[in-house]
Amino acid sequence: MTTEPDNATTTARSAERTLDGVTVVITGASSGIGATTAEALAGAGATVALFARRKDRLDDLTRTIEGRGAGAAKAYGVDVTDADAVSTAIDAVATEFGGIDILVNCAGVGTWGPAVDAKLSDWTAMVDVNINGVFAATHAALPHLVAAANGPRGISDIVNVSSIAGRRVPSFQSNVYAATKHAVGAFSEGLRQELAPAHVRVGVVEPGIVTTEMTTTGEEYAPDARNAEGLGVLDPDDIAAAIVYIVTRPRHAAVNEVLIRPTEQVR
Ligand SMILES: NC(=O)c1ccc[n+]([C@@H]2O[C@H](COP(=O)([O-])OP(=O)(O)OC[C@H]3O[C@@H](n4cnc5c(N)ncnc54)[C@H](OP(=O)(O)O)[C@@H]3O)[C@@H](O)[C@H]2O)c1
Repeated sequence: MTTEPDNATTTARSAERTLDGVTVVITGASSGIGATTAEALAGAGATVALFARRKDRLDDLTRTIEGRGAGAAKAYGVDVTDADAVSTAIDAVATEFGGIDILVNCAGVGTWGPAVDAKLSDWTAMVDVNINGVFAATHAALPHLVAAANGPRGISDIVNVSSIAGRRVPSFQSNVYAATKHAVGAFSEGLRQELAPAHVRVGVVEPGIVTTEMTTTGEEYAPDARNAEGLGVLDPDDIAAAIVYIVTRPRHAAVNEVLIRPTEQVR
């Protein structure tokens, strides 16, 4: 009888130690998809540098990861909208761990609703985190990633967590959120074309509705509020497993785009 993992959690957290000696910077690591991805990557042997504003959460996650005895973890209290702080922290990671092999841009915020009566500050907050935060981390990490691709692993990776809203506009209520995620897709494709010859792979992950703080707290128009039928949603482990898959492909194979919807999600 074959033994199958019973869910994505098992798959993501029991990955083979294929990332031993690999250093990952992951933004948005204090909750949801980022935190679960950090656990999964560390479970595969990676050293994970955890970036987010809620340093207490990152410290807890560091202890959890190190208690499991796989990869190491270190917490960096960083706001991705502060480009200087991002650059300083990324250089500190490279100095302490001898380089950076993988950047996962996962930090993101979302506010949904009609444009009429929306707060402009909500829109600029999404641009600041979802676009400028991705630019800041990528800009700071690029020299290290290019150098790492010339190192023993022979490859390095950028994984940008976009959204189904980066491929299409799910509803008018997604207006600015979808705009920011479309920008992530465009930026990723430009990077991919430039960096392919340098063996820096660029992958975009486009989740449908995932149960995280983003979709379950506060917002009248948040995706869970639009999910009135109670259709199945994804778990952060579903996305973490995809990211582990992307960065553990052999050197000749680049997974550039993964779109994952809950089975019952139509739009
Ligand atoms: N949940 C979904 O249905 C879904 C679907 C498609 C795509 N996504 C994308 O998945 C990514 C992760 O979201 P999630 O669903 O896991 O939500 P989440 O649990 O709310 O996580 C968001 C993360 O982003 C971090 N963050 C926000 N603003 C930041 C800032 N200024 N500086 C540094 N970190 C910041 C948060 O950390 P701090 O607050 O501690 O700073 C947190 O770690 C986002 O890019 C989101 O757009 C989510």
